[in-house]
Amino acid sequence: MLLAERPERYPYLKADSVQYLKCDSSSSESLYNAMQGLSQEAPVAGVFSSSEYFIEMAATLAELCGLSGADPVALRTCRNKWLQRQRLQAAGFNTPKFECVTSCEKAGEALRHIPLPVIVKPTMGTGSVGVRLCRTTNEVMDHAAVLLNRTVNERGMPILPEVLIEEYVVGLEYSVEVFGGVAVGITKKHVSAEPFFVELGHDFPAPLSGALRESIGTVVHDAVRSLGLMWGPAHVELRLAAEGPTIIEINPRLAGGFIPEIVRIACGIDLVKETVRLVAGEDPRIVPDPKAHASIRFVEVPGAGTIKGIEGVGEAVAIEGVVDAQIYKNVGDWVQRENDFRDRIGHVIASTDSEVQAAALAELACSRIRVQLRHDE
Ligand SMILES: Nc1ncnc2c1ncn2[C@@H]1O[C@H](COP(=O)(O)OP(=O)(O)OP(=O)(O)O)[C@@H](O)[C@H]1O
Ligand SMILES: [Mg+2]
Repeated sequence: MLLAERPERYPYLKADSVQYLKCDSSSSESLYNAMQGLSQEAPVAGVFSSSEYFIEMAATLAELCGLSGADPVALRTCRNKWLQRQRLQAAGFNTPKFECVTSCEKAGEALRHIPLPVIVKPTMGTGSVGVRLCRTTNEVMDHAAVLLNRTVNERGMPILPEVLIEEYVVGLEYSVEVFGGVAVGITKKHVSAEPFFVELGHDFPAPLSGALRESIGTVVHDAVRSLGLMWGPAHVELRLAAEGPTIIEINPRLAGGFIPEIVRIACGIDLVKETVRLVAGEDPRIVPDPKAHASIRFVEVPGAGTIKGIEGVGEAVAIEGVVDAQIYKNVGDWVQRENDFRDRIGHVIASTDSEVQAAALAELACSRIRVQLRHDE
């Protein structure tokens, strides 16, 4: 049963015949009442959200209803990137220099102790929305002003007028998929060209030496523990800097970008299923069975316009080793570049027993998909 304010946002409800209840998902009272109503019909085993926007509310609800869940206070701290940075720094982890500002003048002043280039981003957000590398004082002040002028996020939810200025951490980027405080595996991430950071691909498991794997695993375990995130899934993003693994951000939830799917294909652990098990009060089974390498590559929006044709999906799927190809848009849909997760309008997943080949096949198959636009509107 899905509790949602705008069920029409979720086309899979219809496609998969999922039951839903319309309610105000920003109000714990409205959700609690909905849960009480449901429990009159049948016992409720658990409540959970995989969406960044609602994880904290779902955990609050679980606590109110005496159900299993993450600590809502830990989630609240973690979801604010500024508070999270302060906690990680206090606990002794490698941390880039950072400052939270509420005006563009203060953003300029922050550069007195944070060396350019810097990352300028919202304190709360997801999908790389508003995250930008800035190389000059003017760029910093201009981008801070853009972010500070926003009163709602991409989902129309209110946002705080706060901007984080961070030292730019240089190094290859990885994410660690964690469950119950333990690293399940490490994903290699491919992001778009600077100054934006759209995630365009992932490889699992990441090609890393045993020693690096171990040092990343230790940092991640300690960091997740220090933030009180030992319940269920977490997704830790880090860069391998000269000083060692440096955490970019910890998300107290399942990874997005189909990472749980490539993890499942590569090592047999279904993080979604195990999360559902945990939420329902059962014992999760996190037993890796490494069998393949899996890579995903995303189809990028080709520009601004109305989609007039989508070709090559069949061709992509027909390539040996390709296990999935999807386009999330339809002919007639309007698309435009946003420089964040919305630029991903489809994907291809390939899996083989070689990491190099899986990545190459996913890239090849992705290049076969062509999305044509009409620019006349
Ligand atoms: N201080 C930093 N140094 C280097 N790169 C950074 C830094 N902060 C952010 N980035 C880059 O920007 C990306 C997105 O930043 P961040 O994870 O903070 O935002 P987000 O909106 O939560 O994004 P997502 O949901 O896509 O992970 C990171 O994955 C990383 O590539
Ligand atoms: Mg992130």
